[in-house]
Amino acid sequence: MLAEWFKHQLIPAPRHLKDMGYVKELIAIGARHRRCQDAWADHLGLCKKVILDAAKGIKPDKVTILGSGLLLDIPIDALSKTFGEVVLVDIFHMPEIKKCVKPMKNVRLEAIDVTGVVEATFEHALEGALPPAKADAGWLADSDLVVSANILSQLPLLPMDWVKDKGYGEEKTEAFARRIIDHHLELLGALPGRVCLLTEFERQIADGDEVLQEIDPLFGARIPASGLKWIWNIAPRPEITRHIDLRFRMTGIPDLRAVTGKGKN
Ligand SMILES: C[S@@+](CC[C@H](N)C(=O)[O-])C[C@H]1O[C@@H](n2cnc3c(N)ncnc32)[C@H](O)[C@@H]1O
Repeated sequence: MLAEWFKHQLIPAPRHLKDMGYVKELIAIGARHRRCQDAWADHLGLCKKVILDAAKGIKPDKVTILGSGLLLDIPIDALSKTFGEVVLVDIFHMPEIKKCVKPMKNVRLEAIDVTGVVEATFEHALEGALPPAKADAGWLADSDLVVSANILSQLPLLPMDWVKDKGYGEEKTEAFARRIIDHHLELLGALPGRVCLLTEFERQIADGDEVLQEIDPLFGARIPASGLKWIWNIAPRPEITRHIDLRFRMTGIPDLRAVTGKGKN
């Protein structure tokens, strides 16, 4: 914990990203991955498999990963060998990721807020207004493959925490979250190239085999039912407490357009 605190202090980042918790969250994901490596292994392998399936049969000029994070679920070596250009998009890139991709000359990092609302949320919540989520697909239009890499359900979380802390009620906050999710799905739907979606669609708090609570991380938004399904044991006990396990029900859809409209989760 102390090591994570120091790391947070030392990493330079825009103020709104630090204050809203984006850097802390990236540090926490890395730390949890180190503690839960065995429990995460199947999930990370399946994500990489879905991305490699998505890369088959298309022009291999440019791939863009949305939510590249710590590259835990991204087959970066294979993508760098397959595609002419690899663009890794995240709201913030950790120093270790910059170092890791430096030798890969065709890999580029872009620090972009894919919702377009984070900075506005930071500022507007202070003034008392919630900004709408914006989706601009234009900057992604020349990618042969765009991967939404376990980012969909994460997009509203820190903006929601921020506005909740500023006194917004549950109803307003959840409507805001839903708009952010809908806009990401709209953005993916507007892209001309292939789109691969990796996301959780149900969060389970469990006591071993017994599910104690199911949470909808997409706030009612629907995604296609087709796709590979698996469980991500994201926080097996005693990660959160000695009595509960947290797991995500996951889906991996290599070609979103091919399955859009064929049932909804
Ligand atoms: C659960 S992680 C995804 C895992 C990641 N693919 C990996 O392998 O480490 C979610 C990622 O979404 C990023 N993120 C959250 N909100 C974002 C936003 N508005 N724009 C861009 N990236 C965002 C986070 O920084 C984080 O890296």
